[in-house]
Amino acid sequence: MIGLFDSGLGGLTVIQRIRERLPDADIVFFADQAHVPYGDRAPDDLFALLCANLAWLDAAGVDAIVMACNTSCAIAERYGWPSTRAPVLDLIDSAATAVQRAGHQRLGVVATAATVEAGSYGRTLRSAVPGAEVWEVAAPKLVPLVEAGRIHDDEARKAVDAVCRELPEGLDAVIYGCTHYPVLGEHFMDALGGEVALIDPAVMQAERAAVLLRNREPVEESGTIRYVTSGDPAAFESNIVRIMGEDLPQVESITDGRRERWRRTGSS
Ligand code: DGL
Repeated sequence: MIGLFDSGLGGLTVIQRIRERLPDADIVFFADQAHVPYGDRAPDDLFALLCANLAWLDAAGVDAIVMACNTSCAIAERYGWPSTRAPVLDLIDSAATAVQRAGHQRLGVVATAATVEAGSYGRTLRSAVPGAEVWEVAAPKLVPLVEAGRIHDDEARKAVDAVCRELPEGLDAVIYGCTHYPVLGEHFMDALGGEVALIDPAVMQAERAAVLLRNREPVEESGTIRYVTSGDPAAFESNIVRIMGEDLPQVESITDGRRERWRRTGSS
């Protein structure tokens, strides 16, 4: 079973890529919607949330933790990764592998304010691709729009446009540095035009997950997804239907207190 967490709906874009590679893998996804957006939070706060989320996934018995939150990866790059039983796949490392493979040099990264502040994308990309030039731009308006389901409206298009205008001309590629942003892909494509490649790090993340899980003992899995939120389960459910195109999924809700007890005792 694969474990993922995100602050909210961004995790769904990573699940989509995992399902393309590993359709039979069972998945547990925790959306920490009680604390979304992560991108506006202070580093200490984000590190505490990262520790709690990883520990909860470990307690849920996952075989691998496939990171679905760039902001949490950026904080881990700064503070160090908390230790976990299950191996963890870093999404920013996957972005760097994708860039390396494609041979891009002039790179834009659109990400949350906390991710840009941490500077982790720039450091990771420059060390993976010698000579790479990296421009990081914060887009704090985008996550609240996605969470509110305002994907196709004019405000979303204008917000994406404004962020893309902050990037320099002549880029080889722009990286979605937040897992919520692929939901706004049509606006990014319109704003950037056909010349600039758009990189979704989740594609490489799913490829790396498939390699990681190939080496484990074979287990019977049937592609079930367990959705858990710390926010409003009804709203989460309708967003899953909209973004994933699934029939009404089973959604569990969990409070911070119950999550903490589960983590300590191993039962809900
Ligand atoms: N989707 C997350 C990321 O990839 C966090 C977005 C947020 O809550 O600000 O960074």
